[in-house]
Amino acid sequence: MKNLKDHVIIVTGGAAGIGGAITTVLTQRGASVIAVDIDDTAGQQKVDTNPEHIVFVKGDISKPSVAQQAVEMAVSRFGKLTGVVNNAHASKQKPLMQLTEEDWALSMDTGLKGTLNFMKAAYPELKKTKGAIVNFGSGAALNGQKNQASYAAAKEAIRGLSRVAANEWAEDGIRVNIVCPLALTEGVKKWKEAFPEQYQEIADKHPMHRFGDPQKDIAPIVAFLLSEDSQYMTGQTLMADGGDIKLR
Ligand SMILES: NC(=O)c1ccc[n+]([C@@H]2O[C@H](COP(=O)([O-])OP(=O)(O)OC[C@H]3O[C@@H](n4cnc5c(N)ncnc54)[C@H](O)[C@@H]3O)[C@@H](O)[C@H]2O)c1
Repeated sequence: MKNLKDHVIIVTGGAAGIGGAITTVLTQRGASVIAVDIDDTAGQQKVDTNPEHIVFVKGDISKPSVAQQAVEMAVSRFGKLTGVVNNAHASKQKPLMQLTEEDWALSMDTGLKGTLNFMKAAYPELKKTKGAIVNFGSGAALNGQKNQASYAAAKEAIRGLSRVAANEWAEDGIRVNIVCPLALTEGVKKWKEAFPEQYQEIADKHPMHRFGDPQKDIAPIVAFLLSEDSQYMTGQTLMADGGDIKLR
């Protein structure tokens, strides 16, 4: 399926995990991708899989200059920008009262501010192409999962920001939607080791009794939201979680 032919899309955290899977699937569907990540090795490995259509920008998404650099790279290398996937987000899992100022800054700066940085930097180019933005929320935030205060706060702020942008930017032809994934990535594997009882609790009550596969279960939903197939959707939250949470 080449429903993203000629699309040029920035994917933050695009070197590994869900972002890495998104980079792969978007290119399989005909897009070129600017993968932004702090992980040099994984970034280079991703480029090596498809050097013609994947460019790696090394940088911390909490810095506005990195967002600007990624947008400039899209335009200089591929002539335009049609989409942004704000996927990367770093945070610490601790009980609320143990979270330090640094822990709060990490989640807010990479999650909320990182997303805002890329939305603002991309806006002028997305306005030209009537592009689409996919931001990332989380079922942990919707549920208020224990040990996730700084993460949940940033994720729900991202959903609020996305709804405002969907309303403000609809007249520019820019769509903004949110995906809440559930997938067994390296990060989730670490969390599973740290909190095995929480993992088991989620798996036990999950309708499909499994976490998703980043490439087969999550990335195609992101691809759909970037494609013309979803042109009448904006401001929506899509649960890519195998039915774990039924949003109404
Ligand atoms: N995995 C899940 O089940 C799950 C559930 C809910 C929400 N999410 C969300 O999905 C997204 C991806 O999750 P994941 O599990 O693949 O994460 P991950 O931690 O496995 O991967 C994130 C990628 O982002 C990069 N990254 C981290 N900090 C960065 C920074 N400051 N600047 C640039 N790159 C940075 C990492 O190097 C890595 O390649 C996140 O927004 C996460 O909160 C994931």
